[in-house]
Amino acid sequence: MMRRAIYPGTFDPITMGHLDIIERCSRLFDEVIVAILVNLDKEPMFSVEERVKMIQEVMTWPNVTVGTFEGLLVHYAVEHEAQAIVRGIRAVSDYEYELQMALMNRRLEPELETVFLMAAEAYSYISSRLIKEVFKLGGSINGLVPESVERRMRDRAEEAEC
Ligand code: PNS
Repeated sequence: MMRRAIYPGTFDPITMGHLDIIERCSRLFDEVIVAILVNLDKEPMFSVEERVKMIQEVMTWPNVTVGTFEGLLVHYAVEHEAQAIVRGIRAVSDYEYELQMALMNRRLEPELETVFLMAAEAYSYISSRLIKEVFKLGGSINGLVPESVERRMRDRAEEAEC
C-alpha cells in the first residue's frame, strides 16, 4: 500500500525548519504533498504562486510534490488519498494548538492520522513570522531560510521601496 502524507502550512516563506521536516517526512512516507493553504483573510508577503515556486526551487526529494488547498485540510487529504497529516513541533508552546487541530481533524476524519515530527534543535526557535520580522527590521536571517528565499525577500523589500 502506498503511504502518502500531507504536510500542510502557510509557508510564507518556507524556512530551513520546514525543509528539515520535509526531509524527515520524505524518508518515512512513499509520497509527500507539501500543501499550501490559500488563505484569503491574511495578507502574505508572497502570493501562493510565488510560495509554490519558492518551495519547488529548493526541493531535492523525488517523492515530494507541492500543492495548494482551500477549505478544510481533511477534505484535501481525503481527495488525495493520504493516510497522514504531518506537522512539525518545535517547542511545548506549539503543542496546545497542534493538539486542538489534530483532535478536530480526527473528529472530522477518524481514519486520517496526524503525525508530529520534531525539527532539528538548530531550527527549534524559527518561524516564518519571526524571520519576516527580523528581516524587516534589518537583522540577518542567513542560514534560517534557503538562499533563494532570502534573495526573493530582498527583491520584495526593494520593490516596496520603489
Ligand atoms: O503554517 P500554519 O499557519 O501553522 O498552518 C496551519 C494550517 C494551514 C495547517 C491550518 O490552518 C489548516 O489546516 N487550515 C485549513 C482549514 C482547516 O482545515 N481548519 C480546521 C483545522 S482543525
